[in-house]
Amino acid sequence: MVTGPFDHIWDCCCDHGLLGASLLSRKVGKTVHFVDIVEKLIDEVNAKLLRFYPHGAWQTHCLDVSLLPLEKYQGKQLIIIAGVGGDLMMDFVSALVKNHRAAELEFLLCPVYHQYALRQRLIELELGLIDEVLVEDNQRFYEILHLSVYGEALANVHPVGDKLWQANSEEEALRAQRYLHKTLAHYQRIEKGGKVDVREEIAAYSAVCLDNG
Ligand SMILES: C[S@@+](CC[C@H](N)C(=O)[O-])C[C@H]1O[C@@H](n2cnc3c(N)ncnc32)[C@H](O)[C@@H]1O
Repeated sequence: MVTGPFDHIWDCCCDHGLLGASLLSRKVGKTVHFVDIVEKLIDEVNAKLLRFYPHGAWQTHCLDVSLLPLEKYQGKQLIIIAGVGGDLMMDFVSALVKNHRAAELEFLLCPVYHQYALRQRLIELELGLIDEVLVEDNQRFYEILHLSVYGEALANVHPVGDKLWQANSEEEALRAQRYLHKTLAHYQRIEKGGKVDVREEIAAYSAVCLDNG
């Protein structure tokens, strides 16, 4: 989903930096930034990049993602955040959008859980939807959202997803059906626990119409 070209791509919460390294190889960004809050991880990523991409355009940052210094860089910037909870992710996105209103920002988000709450926040922030896809890997499902701060010319983010449920093949239709079933079962379990009110989520996911093309 990263087609670019971008002036700066930020692989946030990069861990071992595999995603950023593959983007460096594909040359879709003029500079690829690797960001993680754990110093030891960033030191390791730095050593690997020096070894395997000595002439590549990359930078490493040991930082909290909410504090990315985007104002120091010009042009189109893509911020990728994957593999952290949607609850943490929504705080990162809110801070970056609020602190960098003038920047040309796109986001590529792949949250672990809390997709509903994340989508509510993206709607509040008026981000525009460029694309969304459902991915199944190792029996786990991931929603990937590609967004832009230039929301007015784009589709709105839907509370539970829209294109996500539109299948172009039988395989995609079955995947969407499995994800919907799993998501509803998750919220029904929470409802049975009686501690959290998830009636809104259950109503929203129950209203999803699977479109088999
Ligand atoms: C499970 S890994 C995700 C790796 C990779 N992005 C992926 O999708 O496979 C989560 C990473 O987020 C980092 N992290 C957690 N909170 C962070 C924060 N506030 N700022 C930057 N990195 C953070 C952790 O140190 C860890 O390396």
